[in-house]
Amino acid sequence: MTCIVPNTYRFAAAISLSWLMTGIALGASNPDWFPKKDLTTIGVYYYPEAWPESQWARDMANIRKLGMEFVHMGEFAWYFMEPEEGQFHFEWLDKNIDLAAKNGLKVILCTPSAAPPVWLARNHPEILMVDGAGRTIQHGSREHADWSSQLYRDYVTKIDTELARRYGHDRRVWGWQIDNELSHYGKHFSYSRAATQRFRDWLKEKYGSIDRLNADWGGAFWSEMYQSFDQIEIPNEQVLVADPSPHAVLDFRRWFAHEAANYLDSQASVLRRYSENQWITTNFMAMHADVNPVLSRSSLDVFSWTHYPVHGNLNEGELGYRLGSASVMSFMHDFMRPLTGISGIMELQPGQVNWGDYNPWPLPGAIHMWILRAFGAGANFVCTYRYRQPLYGSELYHKGLAETDGVTPSPGGREYSEAMSDILKLRQQYRPDAREPESYAARRTAFLIGFDNRWDIENHPQTKLWNTEAHWMRYYRALKSAMAPIDVITEETEFDKYPFVVAPAYQLVSEDLVKRWTRYAQNGGHLILTSRTVQKDPRGHLWEGPWAAPILDLIGAKIVRYDVLPPPIHGHVRFLEKSYSWESWADVLEPANGTEVLARYADQFYRGSPAVVTRKFGKGSVSYVGVDTETGDLERDVLHQVFQRAGAKPASLAPDFVVDWRDGFWVATNFTSKVQTIPAPANATVLVGKREVIPGSATVWSSP
Ligand code: GAL
Repeated sequence: MTCIVPNTYRFAAAISLSWLMTGIALGASNPDWFPKKDLTTIGVYYYPEAWPESQWARDMANIRKLGMEFVHMGEFAWYFMEPEEGQFHFEWLDKNIDLAAKNGLKVILCTPSAAPPVWLARNHPEILMVDGAGRTIQHGSREHADWSSQLYRDYVTKIDTELARRYGHDRRVWGWQIDNELSHYGKHFSYSRAATQRFRDWLKEKYGSIDRLNADWGGAFWSEMYQSFDQIEIPNEQVLVADPSPHAVLDFRRWFAHEAANYLDSQASVLRRYSENQWITTNFMAMHADVNPVLSRSSLDVFSWTHYPVHGNLNEGELGYRLGSASVMSFMHDFMRPLTGISGIMELQPGQVNWGDYNPWPLPGAIHMWILRAFGAGANFVCTYRYRQPLYGSELYHKGLAETDGVTPSPGGREYSEAMSDILKLRQQYRPDAREPESYAARRTAFLIGFDNRWDIENHPQTKLWNTEAHWMRYYRALKSAMAPIDVITEETEFDKYPFVVAPAYQLVSEDLVKRWTRYAQNGGHLILTSRTVQKDPRGHLWEGPWAAPILDLIGAKIVRYDVLPPPIHGHVRFLEKSYSWESWADVLEPANGTEVLARYADQFYRGSPAVVTRKFGKGSVSYVGVDTETGDLERDVLHQVFQRAGAKPASLAPDFVVDWRDGFWVATNFTSKVQTIPAPANATVLVGKREVIPGSATVWSSP
């Protein structure tokens, strides 16, 4: 298993704390997997089963010629591995692993469980998912099997065992990916009998007695009492007249995430049983809410995720539709990296995709920039989906690194190549003794999120305008513009050693967490809490007492009410002579003595009431931002003010011009629509790119 090697950071004296960071995982159980000096390695997916054997050698050689260092194979290939039950065929894979090795490419193998073969579905339809309307999902696409079906899991175990026995000791095989983007895509959940039974078992384990469940689920409301666990069904709005108990829904979301983690773990255990010195990962989806990667921290060595930044989404700024979102991309790196200390993007867009509502080209240069963004964010690898553009099948409009002739590098292919050449150049400059600059470390922030909060808010938003992800991103983006290094963490991780903790919209809070926050601020940390925080206990019940009772002493204010507005009505807030508008959420505060008011509401019947308060607390400070603005400008200005007061000297980069420090390198990536200048001293050495960074490009430099 991964061993967590502590890392140390030094903070600026200005912070008045000389903390040592110990809570961050870095390094792997085998340093040869991802040697630090390799910085970020780059590779690509290849599906040999979809191309004539006569082209395999040529393709593999061309992958290497593009500069790629590894190749990913086996995903979705169950039919080719086991065309009839119990008849296994791996010769085609053997040949391709040989070819990869001959070309100096490491191999990632993938378990094929995301695409079960037709014989399995026909012989055992009970392995198929059942949707909310009770329909059995059919063979004919992918991801249609039910993770809760024991029979399905048994078949997966068989094919995984065959694979692991054959390749688990093969030195050419570097690591494993399990399944693909655990999600069931648009179908989300299975409502099968198997899933229902496993949900009931989980509840039984959690509550022990049905009385406890009735109490937590609020069964006294609408006579929703249960007499035994066997009476419970998965809450399913498609077959209910009115809303189900929000507490039942919350437990279902928890169970589902747990079930996904359990399924991953069942595959990881098989691979581990038969393999030696190979790492294991799965490819989580960026910002996906149903599956919680944190639950797989002890099953996986490496955390990876998939990212298609440009697919018809507008993102921030004029060129956002061609550049993607700097915040989402950075956030995912900052979330995945601290989990075990080894992370990367498993699927990165190589050009146009096929599945968006609109599928524009990324801006020329953007792909190269994304790879350098990954490098700057500390990623160990970037893998692109896919080498060849398919000539048939539902993804035939999806670009690859090679054009439809199978040989000519596509524009994206050329950008991957260029990024690899840059990495090779940077490897020459790598200095193992490089120290993180103190002024940068002084801004280090733990960004505390909770999947429970997201699920509970989604279930009971109180206004259609609320968007938890957008709320998070307003703060995250503000932190990036201050040039703060960020770890996105959950409650399972200790945050005591970070100079700043931002916990946005932390709706469900245990009294224990409030104690941890209190201790944190007392000991010198700077805590920033935001709208909707501490409304409920972990069951999702309101507190019996004043609104958000457990937090009031800490923030030094009462939350006298919250308001939401129907569009097109806007409210306004004033902070430092500037006006900001809001529409989705406003906590109206009443400060206690000694609490400083930073911003006040400028209209509505509570005009003049505080919207943002801050106070010194012990050796640190606590700030509460009760309002959620549309642009995030207020959030940015308040955060910068809090940093300033704490002596952490925030930078003021243009939002979406992201600058990070990694292993002795400064890396700037420009997701804005204007040219930006790197914040580097005159004697800095520019290693990649230029001091003037045009939109969709990157610059790397080192400072003496
Ligand atoms: C991903 C998926 C891949 C492929 C890709 C196309 O979401 O994991 O298998 O379908 O999209 O962009």
